[in-house]
Amino acid sequence: MVSLALEGVEARYGRKQILTDASTPEIEGGMLTALVGANAAGKSTLFRRIAGQLRGAGRVRLSGAEAGDLRYMPQDTAMSAALTVYESIILALKQGTGGWRLSPRELAAVDAVLHRFGIDHLAQRQLPELSGGQRQSVSIAQTLVTRPKLVLMDEPTSALDLYRQYEVLEALRRYAEETGAVVILALHDLNQVMRACTTTLALAEGRILATGPTLEVLTPALIRRLYGIDSRVERCSRGCPMMIVDGPAPHPPGQQVGT
Ligand SMILES: Nc1ncnc2c1ncn2[C@@H]1O[C@H](COP(=O)(O)OP(=O)(O)OP(=O)(O)O)[C@@H](O)[C@H]1O
Ligand SMILES: [Mg+2]
Repeated sequence: MVSLALEGVEARYGRKQILTDASTPEIEGGMLTALVGANAAGKSTLFRRIAGQLRGAGRVRLSGAEAGDLRYMPQDTAMSAALTVYESIILALKQGTGGWRLSPRELAAVDAVLHRFGIDHLAQRQLPELSGGQRQSVSIAQTLVTRPKLVLMDEPTSALDLYRQYEVLEALRRYAEETGAVVILALHDLNQVMRACTTTLALAEGRILATGPTLEVLTPALIRRLYGIDSRVERCSRGCPMMIVDGPAPHPPGQQVGT
């Protein structure tokens, strides 16, 4: 089984320190983990730091996988290359391998990932001609075609319609379960997080404020501290936990820890 832990991780842009001390216990693979936090809290920065695109103090400890098993899907996925969707997935699969010949197994992997993310019908379309949601689906397929053991996805459902949000989160959940991979998703929709993610990391003030089972982390007190929003977490008529927004909290975020 794969696991990831952060020990005092720091990150900065020039002299601007974004992460001061991000630490987590072991984040286990085999299920989805959410990374939540306000705009500009440092979620994308943390992903870049884990992916080795930024340097800084602290340790990113990965067990059961190599650094090369990591795939990071950035928040903005521009696709200007004159390639078909099919070619772009082959490119993602073969990148860094030094060859372009595809084995029958690799061809099957390309077909499987297209199917898994419901984009078989886009295989022969040119990347620049895709809609925003289609591009996001292709980007997810490119990220997973190598079957990575550590997956960091930055807001992977932000451009998707309701049906595809559900489908993609379900497919990611199954992927994590089948492969035992650590899959961390930066998400803003807390109801999505409650439905799909077993574990949640909450990022604010340059560090991870809370880590644990999603429902234990996403309390109204923490939601107020992260976003400055008063909310309730209640069970719907079918017994599923839902977050209901009441409005802005009387104190700005970070000033008053929930009581
Ligand atoms: N390349 C950069 N150079 C300088 N500052 C940056 C750079 N990228 C991000 N920042 C700053 O770092 C802080 C954290 O940004 P980051 O993109 O990590 O936030 P985020 O939590 O991903 O936010 P969002 O929810 O809006 O995506 C912000 O104040 C941002 O302005
Ligand atoms: Mg971001």
